[in-house]
Amino acid sequence: MLEEIKEKFSKDIASITSLSDLNDLRVKYLGKKGIITSYLKSLSTVTPEERPVLGKVLNETKLYIERAILAKENSIKEFELSNKIKTEYIDITVPGKFVAPGTEHPLNKILNEVVDIFVKMGFNVEEGPEVELDYFNFEALNIPKDHPARDMQDTFYITDEIVLRTHTSPVQIRGMIKRKPPVRFIAPGKVYRCDADISHTPMFHQVEGLMIDENISFSNLKGILISFIHMMFGEGVPVRFRPSFFPFTEPSAEVDMGCILCKGIGCRVCKQSGWLEILGAGMVHPVVLENVGYDTERYNGFAFGMGIERIAMLKYQIDDIRLFFENDIRFLRQF
Ligand code: DAH
Repeated sequence: MLEEIKEKFSKDIASITSLSDLNDLRVKYLGKKGIITSYLKSLSTVTPEERPVLGKVLNETKLYIERAILAKENSIKEFELSNKIKTEYIDITVPGKFVAPGTEHPLNKILNEVVDIFVKMGFNVEEGPEVELDYFNFEALNIPKDHPARDMQDTFYITDEIVLRTHTSPVQIRGMIKRKPPVRFIAPGKVYRCDADISHTPMFHQVEGLMIDENISFSNLKGILISFIHMMFGEGVPVRFRPSFFPFTEPSAEVDMGCILCKGIGCRVCKQSGWLEILGAGMVHPVVLENVGYDTERYNGFAFGMGIERIAMLKYQIDDIRLFFENDIRFLRQF
């Protein structure tokens, strides 16, 4: 009888592959209402002579079943673990995928250098929108309706009254309206003109500068800009101011520095002149100050503006502006 149970049990356990099935099997044989348990309960119904004999065999059978279940449990667990190791195996010797670390874009690098120099000189950093009102981009800066800069050829018009800013100078107006003089800030950012060739892209970067206070003179402007050029390009670089015209400054100047490539001897980059033009500047036109409600009897000041691409091209000796925007990492990696 018990031999039959053992046999049946052996068959049952042989087909089991999961821990939950094994548990069901345990319940079936050893549980409260299990086969072995009910036999043990029935011991009370046999004769006192038979009892120890039957009890011994039952206990042995129970022990046999318990051991078999334990052994099965271990083998299932082992099997599951080895399966897991096989399927979740990570080969740490496989070479990793190379992710090229990014580098700062050369234009951002130059832009940050320019900003840092002016911040050290006490200028704040001001920002304005790239989609700008015609009023701030032109009108308030004393640029009349028939000025060539307003030509459809140059300016991206969104509507008659809204443009993509063609320079960072509108930030002068916005910055002055926001606060009372004295003011001293720079305005870096993107500007847009409908133009594309080896030295022009439809989007490029400028840094504007503005300083308004009592008794500001042209020599203050010269001092600031010469210091800037020396910090940017080196102490010994010669700087000259040439008379020029901008509607929003009077007098106006274009600022040149000695050609850093040929050291002033004359080369292709400086068109044999020995000089490179790098900024526009001037004393802020009183009409501009009036447009923002500043007292022109008391306050005056200077402004300047420069193109970041041009400075980067000179500094890194790049002869095609479009390289900055092609996103060729062989080019970008060099900076
Ligand atoms: N806004 C001028 C341009 O884009 C550059 C410029 C010239 C800015 C003279 C100034 C300035 O603030 O005083 O060409």
